[in-house]
Amino acid sequence: MAPLSNLAVRDIETVAHPYTNLAALRETGPLVIERKSHDPAIELAERLKEIVPVPTSKVFFCSSGSEANDTQVKLVWYMNNAFGRPRKKKIISRLRAYHGVTVAAASLTGLPNNHLDFDLPIAGILHTACPYHYRCAHAGESEEDFAVRLANELEELIRREDPDTVAAFIAEPVMGAGGVIVPPQTYFREVMKVCRRYDVYMIADEVICGFGRLGTMFGCTALGFEPDSITVAKALTSAYVPMAAVTVPEPMYQAMLDESRKIGTFGHGFTYSGHPVAAAVALKALDIYARERIAEQAARKAPQFQARLAALGDHPLVGDARGLGLIGAVELVADKNTKRSFDAKAGVGPRAVRFAEEEGLIVRFIVGDILSVCPPLIIAPAEIDELFDRLGRALDRTLDWARRERLMDA
Ligand SMILES: Cc1ncc(COP(=O)(O)O)c(C=O)c1O
Repeated sequence: MAPLSNLAVRDIETVAHPYTNLAALRETGPLVIERKSHDPAIELAERLKEIVPVPTSKVFFCSSGSEANDTQVKLVWYMNNAFGRPRKKKIISRLRAYHGVTVAAASLTGLPNNHLDFDLPIAGILHTACPYHYRCAHAGESEEDFAVRLANELEELIRREDPDTVAAFIAEPVMGAGGVIVPPQTYFREVMKVCRRYDVYMIADEVICGFGRLGTMFGCTALGFEPDSITVAKALTSAYVPMAAVTVPEPMYQAMLDESRKIGTFGHGFTYSGHPVAAAVALKALDIYARERIAEQAARKAPQFQARLAALGDHPLVGDARGLGLIGAVELVADKNTKRSFDAKAGVGPRAVRFAEEEGLIVRFIVGDILSVCPPLIIAPAEIDELFDRLGRALDRTLDWARRERLMDA
């Protein structure tokens, strides 16, 4: 018979339930504990542990990216209570970040539209600058200098707040909904130094970047950093059924065990945590990603995708064309030299989206007249050309329209 602690471990690994009482479980027996989990969730946890690029002891399952990021916040709080540092609870996110819309996740999100009139963010969630070189760098500031400046700003924020009160930092490797913001290559290296210096737990939100989008299985690998934990969702099941997951490193897991033994409960978990159907679909998706070498496929196609995207930077409407792997965006401006944006009321971005749709292309509008493209990872090279031909035609039509409406400076 397996030692009871292992079975309890298994329980948290898969379907931690709000009514799970680990202390009591230790007293009961393996039969009771065995009933708390099932093969697909156990197998999926094991498989994720093999492929994630972070030291992982357990995997906690949820059904959405928002639930997963709320879970991240709660686990950090629980861990720091277990470590006897109840003041170390603040979480730092970034302006323009998108981490979801439940109460904690929406607070982590750094977009005003997700806060306004929802009385968010909640106390204890702070936002530092975002690595948006096109808009936020000083004149002539190199990407490297910009990265160092942002890391310094993060450090100043931590020191100002008191490092004993700052628990975690969360970041998407490439920001998605905030405008496809690709950080300088050195950004996360600098930021990680600050997190390590102040014992700040680093969470990478891989909900968009995970499973090949940037040409590597996980975004943190493409951006060259190793967080303490990652959040995954969307492509975990290729989005066919809802599922998300949070990785739990061993020190956090030990803290969870200690604390739950002390207080008699680990009161976090969802009805659908580790749902067997979702877990089975995720296992199948992971099989297919491995068989089709999906991340390598994305990496092979990325240069063509990025070259076609970068070429749009010459278009008179495009102030910035940016991307990484198989994600990209163009930012439309009234004046390329001054980077002057259009008045939001002119509706230039939505107009461009409409023209794109008329050209048979779905692009996403992001506030600030940013159009993002995020094709399926199995897109064929000819389809990449087709995509950018259509986007180019949509931009030409938008330009004609903007000139007729006298919205352009030149
Ligand atoms: C980076 C990131 N994190 C979290 C979320 C929230 O996920 P969900 O919509 O499944 O709650 C999203 C959703 O788009 C996302 O892009």
